[in-house]
Amino acid sequence: MVTAALKGGVGKTTTSVYLAALASSNRRSVTLVDSDPQASAAEWVEHATDDRFQRIDVVEAPTERLLTRALDRTASDGVVIVDTPPAHERLLAKALSRANVVVVPTRVGGIETSRVEAVLDIVPASTPRGLVICSARTFTRSYQDALATWSKAGVPVWGSAPERVAITAGPTAPLSSDGLDAYRRVWRRAQTAARSA
Ligand SMILES: Nc1ncnc2c1ncn2[C@@H]1O[C@H](COP(=O)(O)OP(=O)(O)OP(=O)(O)O)[C@@H](O)[C@H]1O
Ligand SMILES: [Mg+2]
Repeated sequence: MVTAALKGGVGKTTTSVYLAALASSNRRSVTLVDSDPQASAAEWVEHATDDRFQRIDVVEAPTERLLTRALDRTASDGVVIVDTPPAHERLLAKALSRANVVVVPTRVGGIETSRVEAVLDIVPASTPRGLVICSARTFTRSYQDALATWSKAGVPVWGSAPERVAITAGPTAPLSSDGLDAYRRVWRRAQTAARSA
């Protein structure tokens, strides 16, 4: 599973970390591959106190070579989640070429649509993909408009992570229960899409 966006700060790392935490609550082996040189996902998992993080293997792979090596080495029976860096299209393309399912974090707002489309363009045609709307204010008109736009474009929205202070706090706060609920839904829908591909 690859968490992909070309734009920075949309919620890739948050999404990767929540999905890894959920995956590790019900699977044997979870590897979180951090291909962002900033290593924010790796740091989050290292510093978090939540039990859900205990069994996650973190591999830092900030270059194409290291990413390829990391993906070649990961166990085929486990879950592998790749967090990607912003604005590194070659690395992103490499990760996407190996993905069985792609989660594209986005936010509400006009320009976001074209940014998501730029990512969807480099996802291999047969690979299932879906959006997660991050830091969503689900009660707003602009959020409803965004849902309508994606529905019209035929791009599935697998979930929306509501805007929460506990989510912004990263490893310094426990995982948000609203965040976990939202990402659980994303996780299920991504698994269903991957299975039926
Ligand atoms: N549901 C949410 N509620 C509140 N804040 C959020 C939520 N999701 C993400 N954020 C915040 O938005 C910011 C960007 O999120 P994140 O670091 O996950 O994005 P990113 O795409 O990985 O960024 P980068 O491109 O820098 O790697 C962070 O401060 C994060 O805490
Ligand atoms: Mg990040």
